[in-house]
Amino acid sequence: MEVSSKNLLEVKNLSKRYLIKKQLFKKEFFSAVDKVSFYIKTHETVGLVGESGSGKSTIGKLILKLIPKDEGEIYFKGKEIYSFSKEEEKKFRRETSIVFQDPRTSLNPRFKIYEILEEPLIVHKIPKEERKKRVVQTIKDAGLDETFLDRYPSDLSGGQRQRVAIARAIILEPDLIVADEPTSALDVSVQLQIINLINRLKKEKKISFLFISHDLNVVGLLSERIIVLYKGKIMEAGDGKKVIKNPLHPYTKLLISSLPPDHPSKRKKLDYIPEVYREEIKGGCVFYSRCPIAQDICKKEPPVKTIDNREVYCHIV
Ligand SMILES: Nc1ncnc2c1ncn2[C@@H]1O[C@H](COP(=O)(O)OP(=O)(O)OP(=O)(O)O)[C@@H](O)[C@H]1O
Ligand SMILES: [Mg+2]
Repeated sequence: MEVSSKNLLEVKNLSKRYLIKKQLFKKEFFSAVDKVSFYIKTHETVGLVGESGSGKSTIGKLILKLIPKDEGEIYFKGKEIYSFSKEEEKKFRRETSIVFQDPRTSLNPRFKIYEILEEPLIVHKIPKEERKKRVVQTIKDAGLDETFLDRYPSDLSGGQRQRVAIARAIILEPDLIVADEPTSALDVSVQLQIINLINRLKKEKKISFLFISHDLNVVGLLSERIIVLYKGKIMEAGDGKKVIKNPLHPYTKLLISSLPPDHPSKRKKLDYIPEVYREEIKGGCVFYSRCPIAQDICKKEPPVKTIDNREVYCHIV
């Protein structure tokens, strides 16, 4: 796969293992992300969906270089992020940012909102006058008025706090934001407001997003493309509408069929998958033990197939 200049981010065979046990002569690792390849185009929102523990946050942190990779390559604007010079590294930090799930823990409770928003500008040596202008403008961009700048995070509702977290993420005018379950801690009505805000920002500010969620409905509302993850591996990736309307991978099919079509609030979470009783295998398809259509060939690593403009990692489809 060539590195394309059209892609803001390109990831090839990215892997991450966590050390889970260390004994005298033996270390035990858990493979959280295994040979994952994908891309995000300029001005594109890509949804990353999967159940709890599938490796979503790990991927988000890896591509922003918040945790070290084990294997693979990560290209930002055509350059491998581990080959950056000091200057390029600084630029990368300015051009990327992250929004976390829970704004209660991601915003420093001892700082006023003004200080929270000003901090990244100080780090990146923006002059004082310019800082003030940007803080005032950005809080408005995030849908709050200036009076909020004088308050502390504890004086704000969950939705307002998440707006501040988003304001902080956009204040340096980044090209790429990883939004890691930014709506999961919020009430359903507030969730929609935050999704609308992200949709507006991506259009107005031309920001690319990796939008992480365990909720396929939420991801479907704002992603041009969707990546479906299971146990650290991609199952299916492609056009968002197609993945939801006509899923190809048996895992995606199960996800979609477990979503009742009527009331989104009543829909089951992704964690529910009908049980299939088949032994776990090593080295083959990670979905083998739960797949309703698996065959012997699935004990081997599935190839990636391009079907209907989508990448599907399955022997059978
Ligand atoms: N620092 C760590 N040390 C050991 N294991 C870890 C560490 N961080 C994550 N893991 C494990 O790696 C796997 C993937 O974790 P990750 O947080 O990326 O999943 P996730 O898809 O974001 O889940 P969730 O939806 O619950 O946020 C999980 O099994 C998790 O327990
Ligand atoms: Mg997570």
